[in-house]
Amino acid sequence: MRFKLTPIYVIINHMFEKKLKKKVQKAVEELFGVSVDLKNIELETPEKESHGDLATNIAFKLASELGKNPEETARVLSKKVTGDFFTAENKSGFINFRLTDQALENRAREVNEFERKKKKKTMVLDYSSPNIAKPFGIGHLRSTIVGQAIYNIYKFNGWKCVGVNHLGDWGTQYGKLIRQIKKEDENPEDLSIEDLEKLYVEFHKEAKKNPEIEKEGKRWFKRLEEGDPKATEIWEICVEKSMREFQKIYDLLEVDIDHHIGESFYQDKMEAVIKEAKKKNVARESEGALIVDFDEEMSPAMLLKSDGGTTYFTRDLATVKYRINRWNPDLFIYEIGADQKLHMKQLFKTVEMLGWKKRSNFMHVAHGMYRLKDGAMSTRKGKTVHLKEVLEEAVKRAEEIIEASETSGKMTEEEKEEAAEKIGVGAVKYADLKKHYKKDIVFDWDKVLNLKGNSGPYLQYTTLRAKSVLKKAGDFNFQISNLSEKERRIIKRIGEFENILDAAERNFTPSSIANFTYQLAKEFNIFYNEMPILEAPSKKERAQRLSVTKASFATLKKSLELLGIPLPEKM
Ligand code: ARG
Repeated sequence: MRFKLTPIYVIINHMFEKKLKKKVQKAVEELFGVSVDLKNIELETPEKESHGDLATNIAFKLASELGKNPEETARVLSKKVTGDFFTAENKSGFINFRLTDQALENRAREVNEFERKKKKKTMVLDYSSPNIAKPFGIGHLRSTIVGQAIYNIYKFNGWKCVGVNHLGDWGTQYGKLIRQIKKEDENPEDLSIEDLEKLYVEFHKEAKKNPEIEKEGKRWFKRLEEGDPKATEIWEICVEKSMREFQKIYDLLEVDIDHHIGESFYQDKMEAVIKEAKKKNVARESEGALIVDFDEEMSPAMLLKSDGGTTYFTRDLATVKYRINRWNPDLFIYEIGADQKLHMKQLFKTVEMLGWKKRSNFMHVAHGMYRLKDGAMSTRKGKTVHLKEVLEEAVKRAEEIIEASETSGKMTEEEKEEAAEKIGVGAVKYADLKKHYKKDIVFDWDKVLNLKGNSGPYLQYTTLRAKSVLKKAGDFNFQISNLSEKERRIIKRIGEFENILDAAERNFTPSSIANFTYQLAKEFNIFYNEMPILEAPSKKERAQRLSVTKASFATLKKSLELLGIPLPEKM
């Protein structure tokens, strides 16, 4: 085969493909009086850039059908198709297309004031959702970071977005915690969030020896459910303390969630849902409990336990109802770990059985596990890794890198501090976002903070580089014509941006944007290192190179913004 498909380039050209196919279709009809289906016009990406941006073998097909010479057919078709956006050329029967400077210039211009059409669609995104009375674990990091990026992408793509933090603040575990606080006679006001976590662990240690206390825990939760003032007071203190802790993390991560609605909010909304499930015969009794059966498909879900208590599942079901009533979204997205796959499947199925929404209205972005490679930071035997420590470590390491850099001499202490925070946090975020959400992450400090590889700092650095050139340049005339291969590659890449945004939306993959950004950054750096911009040989070339820089900067900046990677002033 003469042409090989290289996935990246296929995507690059995709945006023009439809336009081009239609043009070819029209030309064939006008020239030969036959109509071809768009499906039959296959476009491929030539392996060699000198063979153009796209190619088709349609002339061979037509020629054999019409009894004509393929080269001649390709020649007349090429002539007819050549226009503002593409030039076409016969190459031994194949037609090679090349994007015109005009097409590339349009793309480069557009990206500077990039805006997408508003859609009449609403999505509700459930993300972050940590559990109270425990430090924010690294497990909730992915949900928070990937969730926020998905939110940003959907919003930019024109969706109406509602972000919800479905805090875990309800359930028997809080009864157990209250029992322990009471037993140790602690004043909850004096307890740190770490203390609360310890007390919960204490409870379980004790319960191993004395299972009776499980009942005490349950009783305390029952009291909480019934609105007992003592239980409520302790619980409220725990919630408030946790929220204060979480807010610090959100501030550091620059994450802002529209609504914080904990599970406790649904306490009085479950009964109606249970009733409805019973009435519609979606739920049935089984050994004193109320369950939803899915036959062979999967194990049943529990709406009421045999002691009459509700579950995480019951609350999630009531939550769906609430979200329908309040926002009636077209799409429900849950950014939650893959360990909750069954729970989500049961939930979506039950919603469908109740006739509320269709399965296709729901998506579980089931992220993989997070592991730390570095021994020092790895899980300390059975304990969870606290996100705060990871972020602090990242900032500390970023500080060291800044100190060792050439620029550090030109930076004030304040600038260094700002940069360290943005580099450290950006690095941690990017390490997460560049991976497909389904994949596990093995966290390796050296890779995460690497200034040269596919890392957050590398992208920040590249973006700042472009910014700084533009600042030094002052005014210039935006222009794109007769691009060199290196410049052309950059503009083609930038032209891909819209498709990448659509793919990221369709597949729930901020990683699509991360990888695109990395490719663009690499291409920009090659251009930057090999072609003097401010010292270009002519005024025209200077303006052109600055134009390429400007379009690159706009695209890099927007991408980082969508990913939630902060940009330091200097680094
Ligand atoms: N708090 C839960 C946990 O940490 C996650 C909640 C996810 N959202 C939901 N609607 N179930 O496991």
